[in-house]
Amino acid sequence: MAVASTNDRGSWNSKLGFILAAAGSAVGLGNIWGFPTKVATEGGAAYLVVYLICTFLIGFPVMVAELSIGRKARKNPVGAFKALSSNKFFPLVGLWGVICGVMILSFYTVIAGWAFGFAFEEIFYYFGWMDAANWLTDTGNGPKNALIASVFMLGTIKIITGGVSDGIEKATKTMMPLLIGIMVIMIGYVLTQPGASEGVREYLLPDFSKINTTLIFSAMGQAFFSLSLGMGALITYGSYLNKKENIPQAAALVTIADVGIAFLAGLLILPAMYVAKNAGIEIFVGDQLASSTDLVFQILPALFHSIGGAIGLILGVVFFLLLSIAALTSTISLLEVPVSFVIDEYRVKRKKAAWSVGLGVLVVSIIVAFNTSLIGTFDYIFNNLGLPIGGLMTCIFITYVWKTDSAITEMEFGFAGIRQTIFVKVWPFFIRVICPAAILYNIIRNFV
Ligand code: PHE
Repeated sequence: MAVASTNDRGSWNSKLGFILAAAGSAVGLGNIWGFPTKVATEGGAAYLVVYLICTFLIGFPVMVAELSIGRKARKNPVGAFKALSSNKFFPLVGLWGVICGVMILSFYTVIAGWAFGFAFEEIFYYFGWMDAANWLTDTGNGPKNALIASVFMLGTIKIITGGVSDGIEKATKTMMPLLIGIMVIMIGYVLTQPGASEGVREYLLPDFSKINTTLIFSAMGQAFFSLSLGMGALITYGSYLNKKENIPQAAALVTIADVGIAFLAGLLILPAMYVAKNAGIEIFVGDQLASSTDLVFQILPALFHSIGGAIGLILGVVFFLLLSIAALTSTISLLEVPVSFVIDEYRVKRKKAAWSVGLGVLVVSIIVAFNTSLIGTFDYIFNNLGLPIGGLMTCIFITYVWKTDSAITEMEFGFAGIRQTIFVKVWPFFIRVICPAAILYNIIRNFV
């Protein structure tokens, strides 16, 4: 077996590179698809408000925790828990994270493949090649799903083989600005269309009577998934982080980027739905808004088709490319977790690790591609339950095993005066009490 040199771990080239890579991990289908459709179907602006609270009060402290563990240990999630204590249980928590990453990646690539396929569907539709267009819109078509998911996975593997700075950092540094540019232009267009203001109102004027426990737990779960927490993605990304970087500040920037892009996605999708309604497209089923899958994969394409001409074509292609780019920057981080695990723990070279793990996950993806009902099951086990369990265990690990003070000591690198700030009082309290209590409650509710 090839022996990995220390260089095979790699490190980020610049602070901006790290922020964009971590924000790329965070910004994904969860932001552009999950968040806006949940806002639309689960409470409008009230959902937005609760989501913001969950992100900053529950998500941000856990992100700081994961980054500190990663940077201190300079290891993948399993190696990191091993390195920071002699406790035999916590490496299993790291392993659970690796498993969640693999399983989330397996269905995530299938959905990403749908989005990528729809970019071409818009082109085929424009030219009137209806057979090809209809083939791509069929989300239940196994061979088609498997084919596009494979393309997506191969792209992800290719980027990962390039390493941390030349692969992941370089790719996300190009894709993230592109993503933001596309969104801003699309929002500019959609907001000027008839009907858009109804969507804006729905999105920004809160009706607080809509807040109930279901909404709160949905928003909390969404925040966890969207920030890529609970499975060691940020332990891994933190392990490549330079000692001179300020961890709380970096985590705050990543959180703000994630929330900011989710907010922009809402400003695009909700108005677009009401523009579609205005154009006579049915967006309600009875008195319920259509499901989130239908909103993105039926109603939006219908809207692009009804706009028609070159504008309809460009909007359609660009929107689905946007979704694909967002997904790709996330699949990179989902694959990097098991790859770094194999590199560190089994001393395999990066290239070999990326190809073997990537192709292994692809096998699971292909099974999902042919049985799309597995998506819901996997999502429930590895996202809804899996990520909060990982997050809870991380809080417990820091509180009782590694200690919050050791984490603060790690944060002092890059933030020399941290012990004179209020952060050293507030953050440990959140990690010891607020976050675990909220997360535990969420897990119990998900079980029931
Ligand atoms: N945060 C990503 C999204 O919003 C998904 C993800 C979860 C990525 C966990 C990595 C780890 O789509």
